[in-house]
Amino acid sequence: MAEEVAGCNRCVLAAGREHTVFGEGSHQPKLVIVGEAPGAEEDRTGRPFVGPAGQLLTKMLAAIGLAREDVFICNLLKCRPPGNRNPRPDEVASCKPFLREQLRLLQAPMILAMGSPAARELLQTRRGIMSLRGRFMNTRDGYRVMPTFHPAFVLRRPEAKRDVWEDLKKVAAELGLDIPKR
Ligand code: URA
Repeated sequence: MAEEVAGCNRCVLAAGREHTVFGEGSHQPKLVIVGEAPGAEEDRTGRPFVGPAGQLLTKMLAAIGLAREDVFICNLLKCRPPGNRNPRPDEVASCKPFLREQLRLLQAPMILAMGSPAARELLQTRRGIMSLRGRFMNTRDGYRVMPTFHPAFVLRRPEAKRDVWEDLKKVAAELGLDIPKR
């Protein structure tokens, strides 16, 4: 499937990318993280969440006792939109079969949907992340999802960190994780 993604030409983003970003992590993950789309650093390296938002994500996971290797990290879109603009509906439509198949193969007990585009697509709603975050919801396919703010948003609005922490504590409780003492 990663090979299929690497050769994908289903939308205009194929023309501008350096690398596709399939996702990485455990193939029997406790949690699947779904972000929006690769940024500059991800496009350059072909790996998800390795830029500034990724560094914050790694810390957020560590705060609930998870390493990147314990989870699977991927995005709604597998290619970088130019200038990190928002994903367009046709791009989401072209790319979403890949995410659907990843989720089917991974069969994770829980999904952390970070930011509006991921949460909206997974939950098939037009509601934004402000109203969605903080409560578990089920997708039509029966996956349990916790919507939360995207770490890139938290970098711009540090006051959002407190909300993300509340959401992560709920995820940890549901997964039966012990939160490491700081
Ligand atoms: N932002 C995302 O949504 N995904 C990445 O992989 C990196 C930044």
